[in-house]
Amino acid sequence: MQLPANHRQFESEITSDRRDPSQPTDRALGRVIACSGSRATIAASVARGALDGCAIGRLLSINLGRSRIVGLVYEMRALEPIWNEAAANTVAVEVELLGEVVDGESGTARFDSGITSYPPIGALAHRIRSRDLEHIHDLGQRKGVVLGSLTQDAGVSASVDIERLLSRHFAVLGTTGVGKSSAVALILRKAVAVKPNLRVLILDPHNEYAHAFPDNSVRIDANTLDLPFWLFRFEEFADIVFRGRPPLEDEAEILREAIATARARYRNVSPQDMARDLGSSVLKRPLDLGAARRPGESSGTAEFAAPYRLADLFAAIDELIGLHELRYPRTTLRALRVRLETLHADPRYGFLFAHANSMETIAPVVSQVFRVPHRGRPITVFQLAGLPSEVVNAVASSLARLSFDLAMASRGGYEVLLLCEEAHRYVPQDQALGFTPTRQAIARIAKEGRKYGAYLGIVTQRPGELDPTILSQCSTVFAMRLGNERDQQIIRAAIADASASTISFLSSIGNREAIAFGEAVATTMRMRFAEQRPEELPAMAGRMPGQVEPREPLVEELVARMRGL
Ligand SMILES: Nc1ncnc2c1ncn2[C@@H]1O[C@H](COP(=O)(O)OP(=O)(O)OP(=O)(O)O)[C@@H](O)[C@H]1O
Ligand SMILES: [Mg+2]
Repeated sequence: MQLPANHRQFESEITSDRRDPSQPTDRALGRVIACSGSRATIAASVARGALDGCAIGRLLSINLGRSRIVGLVYEMRALEPIWNEAAANTVAVEVELLGEVVDGESGTARFDSGITSYPPIGALAHRIRSRDLEHIHDLGQRKGVVLGSLTQDAGVSASVDIERLLSRHFAVLGTTGVGKSSAVALILRKAVAVKPNLRVLILDPHNEYAHAFPDNSVRIDANTLDLPFWLFRFEEFADIVFRGRPPLEDEAEILREAIATARARYRNVSPQDMARDLGSSVLKRPLDLGAARRPGESSGTAEFAAPYRLADLFAAIDELIGLHELRYPRTTLRALRVRLETLHADPRYGFLFAHANSMETIAPVVSQVFRVPHRGRPITVFQLAGLPSEVVNAVASSLARLSFDLAMASRGGYEVLLLCEEAHRYVPQDQALGFTPTRQAIARIAKEGRKYGAYLGIVTQRPGELDPTILSQCSTVFAMRLGNERDQQIIRAAIADASASTISFLSSIGNREAIAFGEAVATTMRMRFAEQRPEELPAMAGRMPGQVEPREPLVEELVARMRGL
């Protein structure tokens, strides 16, 4: 390769500036032969075998004396289209210039993204030092938690600013099986360890997270769930009653009117009547989370969470049926009553009705679902897999709504993280899909949550199917392997500082590896999540991760499991 005439002198200038003269000189890779603002080409000489320590996706440094420019390798090719086994071959290494490490007066170095002085032709490129990698990813004064190590150098920790990670929302994206849920389990374990007032609510569609947190989570499933029917907003309750189809105009009107009548009756009911109904002699005044609102703050919960009795709902419909001058078709009224009766009698919907009328407020729900007090278990794993599919939307919507309202009502006392696995189901890109109240409740956390301590964690295998406005509110993204070109483009669009060359690696990174972008990291970081023990990983009940059943189960066993026995 053609080197500048004065390259010997140049080399001695830059190498003499090394802080540690004992440092091995074999870190040298080659010299800059072209530079075009944000990119540079380095010519390296390869005598035998491969170019050691230099590969796509790695960082290298270009020595400028008092500073070292950091470059990311995105392309390598031999300058001649042949390979000479007998002699040295010249390889062109294309790098994107990310920033520079500058040595300070006191001997401390710091990394700045952006370049103040560009590398001259002939500048020497090195394999990067571990210490420089530490400077590049150093969080400074910010509180970091270690999630793993850098892919390039396993000796350097991969730390994230956990406060920023949570409070500005985060997303974990990647194709199936790359380790998203395992990474989330690791993040959550670290988060609750450093933030005692954090509550985590996991919407777990595969019933896999309880396995990862046996000691510090509670599991809520179809059998242990209590969400009184009166807690739902009208749209949510209607979605349950009409099993996901939009109600006809009359049906919606009737249900709305009957609920309003039942609520009014509940409010006016005498304490003696209530006590008799409930078999208790003392009744407290209903207290509501919404009561903690400050003036001017709006809350969706308070107005909707006022209880009412199912008996009053039936009575209100019966009265409409018995009216002399009918306001609604009698068949529609009767059909609605039958629908409600069927719902009430269906044991799968027991969680809506079983204890609903022995609760006066949503306090027991808040206590159960949001761990107030947490009693050593700040994580709630909400197992959605066993719930009737028709209620999943309404349940997810009400939980997202309650998460926001609880955080707001607590005035900073609690911070709530809502973790949505398979988030594209709740907030799909296609506005015609999904359930509008869930979308609204999640969007509300994404847009306003940080002011009140309500945070969002988004996990999906299909970023392309996720509402881009939600993704753009996630200030930190862990992008794991994504083979699909469209998904890669989504990431590029969502993340301002995502360089094109970084994104291009997403199709080829390994399991457990991620490129972490955004506010919780000092600089875009290619990392590998720490290896966790099998008992720390999410796994479906009765199955250890990576294990298959040692023998084929009998049909009776299968049927018993399918029935949830
Ligand atoms: N950090 C880790 N430590 C140890 N094993 C891991 C880790 N991450 C992933 N694995 C292994 O990879 C398997 C798949 O990981 P995981 O279930 O987290 O993937 P996923 O991306 O959530 O997949 P899916 O999209 O199907 O939900 C795990 O069962 C485990 O065997
Ligand atoms: Mg998963």
